Amino acid sequence: MTKLISGFSKLSKEEKINWLAETFFDNEEYIKKIIKQYWHSNDELQQLHDDFIENTISNFYMPFGVAPNFVINGKEYVVPMVIEESSVVAAASLVAKFWSTRGGFKTKVISTKKIGQVHFIYKGDFESLQAYFNSKKEDFKSATAEITKNMEKRGGGILDIQLVDKTADLDNYYQLHLTFETKDSMGANFINSCLETIANEFRNDDIEIIMSILSNYVPECLVRAEVSCKVEDLGGENPEYFAKKFEQAVKIAEVEPYRAVTHNKGIMNGIDAVVLATGNDFRAIEAGVHAYASKGGKYTSLSHCEVKNGIFKFWIELPLALGTVGGLTKLHPMAKLSLDILQKPSASELMEIIASAGLAQNFGALRALTTKGIQHGHMKMHLMNILNQLGATSEEKNKILEYFKDKTVSHSAVVEKFNELRNA
Ligand code: MEV
Repeated sequence: MTKLISGFSKLSKEEKINWLAETFFDNEEYIKKIIKQYWHSNDELQQLHDDFIENTISNFYMPFGVAPNFVINGKEYVVPMVIEESSVVAAASLVAKFWSTRGGFKTKVISTKKIGQVHFIYKGDFESLQAYFNSKKEDFKSATAEITKNMEKRGGGILDIQLVDKTADLDNYYQLHLTFETKDSMGANFINSCLETIANEFRNDDIEIIMSILSNYVPECLVRAEVSCKVEDLGGENPEYFAKKFEQAVKIAEVEPYRAVTHNKGIMNGIDAVVLATGNDFRAIEAGVHAYASKGGKYTSLSHCEVKNGIFKFWIELPLALGTVGGLTKLHPMAKLSLDILQKPSASELMEIIASAGLAQNFGALRALTTKGIQHGHMKMHLMNILNQLGATSEEKNKILEYFKDKTVSHSAVVEKFNELRNA
């Protein structure tokens, strides 16, 4: 039976599910039950989710957790996180509490500029193009006036338009390189609308517009977060040794791309979780952050550490183009809730919160890696997942959790203990 189908999007939700069940599964009723089990009981809410994308058949739940005790620039926060990885929220909470008694996170938004480009092909001479561009600048302004009106009222808009000669990289390739300020909105729609309007205004018989699109590389939409304290205040048995080993671990990530990718992945555990919880675009953030991590031509660590004159300092600098108004932040009730829990931050404040969450996650991972190793904490959290998979009862869970309190958790050890209990 063919698995290709035309007109799928026109089928009703029920018909789509029926087609999937009939085409892919022997046990049709079972699959329909699973899909429908995740439908929201509130029809209005389900409709809202159905309308986010095409061909929605159900919802994919992710845990929504909160990490309390973040102190950022002296202000207290509870940070909402959406993530499936078991140890992330626990680590963020632990680290937030740790730093809350050591001055908290200090953050600074360095800049908030965003970029968009009109890419085009032109085969004539550059002077004529430059003259044409100069003659068009005022027209760009009037053509975009309707779109930029509200943004300008909020203090944003188009900051700059440059004509860039890219012919050294690709024959006849030029661009209009635009800089934007989009205040509290992520600004994708605003930027793309401005670009398309300007492209229309700019095209002529000699200019072939290839495309107009914002860039997710935002090295000038930059935030820094830092924690620091006296080495002796780091606590533990030997804080000097810990500080040095931690610094060494960061330096390894600075020089070794294989390690840098994993190191930064740990940072993104914290970043993505808050980006998702607040209804922001995590793919855009991921693309922009990793491009920034390679800006020097070699992929490197986003965070840095210095132990000097008895002070331990750990910081991160990364680009985050975020919004706290518009888009999903308004549409998705849980995104709105997250922003309410964060006390309705501006986009800049959200950049600071999210950078802190990333730094916290990185601190937690490196502290574990350079001391007890990562598996200790990971497997403790993983234990519950294994027990759920095995279908353990609450009584069995309690007994097994108690048993593993002072033992190393491994999948096989848990299964063995579970079987032992069951068989008894
Ligand atoms: C796992 O999700 C993240 C870590 O691998 C990060 C790191 O190695 O720094 C633990």
